[in-house]
Amino acid sequence: MIFLLFFFFSLTNSELTSYNKQLEWIVGHWRSEFSGKVFWPTVPTMTFGEDLKIMEAPLARSANVQFLNFSARAWSHSTKDHFHDEWGFVTVDPTGNATLMTSGNNGFTTYEVGHVSHNKLVLTLKDIGRISFSRDLPVEDLRRTFIRHDDRFLEQVIEMRTATHPKIGYLEHTRVVYTKQDS
Ligand SMILES: *[C@@H]1O[C@H](CO)[C@@H](O)[C@H](O)[C@H]1NC(C)=O
Ligand SMILES: *[C@@H]1O[C@H](CO)[C@@H](O)[C@H](O)[C@H]1NC(C)=O
Repeated sequence: MIFLLFFFFSLTNSELTSYNKQLEWIVGHWRSEFSGKVFWPTVPTMTFGEDLKIMEAPLARSANVQFLNFSARAWSHSTKDHFHDEWGFVTVDPTGNATLMTSGNNGFTTYEVGHVSHNKLVLTLKDIGRISFSRDLPVEDLRRTFIRHDDRFLEQVIEMRTATHPKIGYLEHTRVVYTKQDS
């Protein structure tokens, strides 16, 4: 009995649900010192570093949905200035539909939905919140793609459309390749 209970507890506390197992390839600590690039018609191209952590988060009993937590902290490579932090949660349903919610100190919150497949997660913007005094242009659409190339390298590409660029579709905004960290 004791063994059974222990087994049950260790399962519920340290295992991804079968749905979230579809995200197992992205779980972990990823870091790029300076491979990130920011492109946008209205700003000079910049190089950045980013630290990305995606881990199993504690379960909220009331919701009973397992989320992975998400943190991304970016800095400018040339000036070492802090760019922004994003915190959030991601989860997947049985069909592979994924939802990512983020909140950033650039003044944006996002609600992104998409699909996870083998080593690839593509999310598009479903809803966005923005503080009224943000200096940034309103974002009208966004597509975020994660691709794991192999055991060591993960790439993230963000494409977007703001009130002024481009007229239709998306324009690449950032691209960064992370290296897997041991812890
Ligand atoms: C994610 O959850 C883990 C496990 O509870 C915790 O140690 C970690 O600090 C959390 N990370 C974030 C960014 O909330
Ligand atoms: C999964 O996403 C697709 C495309 O957005 C949608 O048509 C479908 O209804 C979703 N499935 C579930 C179970 O929510």
